Amino acid sequence: MSLNVLFLGEIVGRAGIAVLKKELRSLRHELDVDLCIANGEGTTNGFGIGAAHSVQLTKLGVDVITGGEKFYYKVDFVEFLPKCPFAIRPANYPPLSPGRPFRILERKGHRIAVVNFISSSGFSRIGASNPFVQADHLVKKLQEDAGIVLVQFHSATTAECATFAHYLDGRVACVVGTHNKVMSADATILEGGTAFISDDGRCGADMSVGGLDPDKEIYKFTTALPTRSWESWSDCQIQGVLVKVDEESGKALEITPVRRRVEVERPEVKKNDD
Ligand SMILES: [Fe+2]
Repeated sequence: MSLNVLFLGEIVGRAGIAVLKKELRSLRHELDVDLCIANGEGTTNGFGIGAAHSVQLTKLGVDVITGGEKFYYKVDFVEFLPKCPFAIRPANYPPLSPGRPFRILERKGHRIAVVNFISSSGFSRIGASNPFVQADHLVKKLQEDAGIVLVQFHSATTAECATFAHYLDGRVACVVGTHNKVMSADATILEGGTAFISDDGRCGADMSVGGLDPDKEIYKFTTALPTRSWESWSDCQIQGVLVKVDEESGKALEITPVRRRVEVERPEVKKNDD
């Protein structure tokens, strides 16, 4: 028997919320999903997640929200974190950082730990500790507390994500990368039974720059002028991976990319929004 875990790619803006609203319930049913994990740090206009949006994601069918370097961008979410049971910060953040470093849930009589780390590369200003060192300690503790350990790795590089997955191979059910928001073609089961993909894509506009309007990003690169990025609504998709985990061994049986086009309507743009 297996546990089916759906990892959703980063949810980017209102388009990302719209695809979840339209598709997630039926997708959960169709794929017989026991647990849904999503990177939510881009839910509010692509930059952070507000408290209300975090609650909305859980109502739409997300069980655990993970994050990365944009996790604390919205003040009301930071204030909400101490009483928020469903969102987890990277576990290798400084010890005084608000929020929980992992979450343990029960499904089909099994205890499942979900833990999130952030890479050493790319995020030097955050002050996170070495994820490899931190994982050694924490994964051992979680293995004792829960039979199944699921890892989300917020990684700026595919190389560090692959290295992290091989490092934890055989100790955790999966290492699923996020941050780049471009689904990679390297989904596989490693020799020790750990499922791996270096990036599980995004939920939101596919014909875009990481879910954002290309015109705004082109303007930034061609003028050097600061301007606000804006979400795109072009070719909206729900993306992620389905990981099947053997209930007894806690190792992965399958990892399957999920990528579906979702027809959603762009809401009317308010004056001054664009
Ligand atoms: Fe990120």
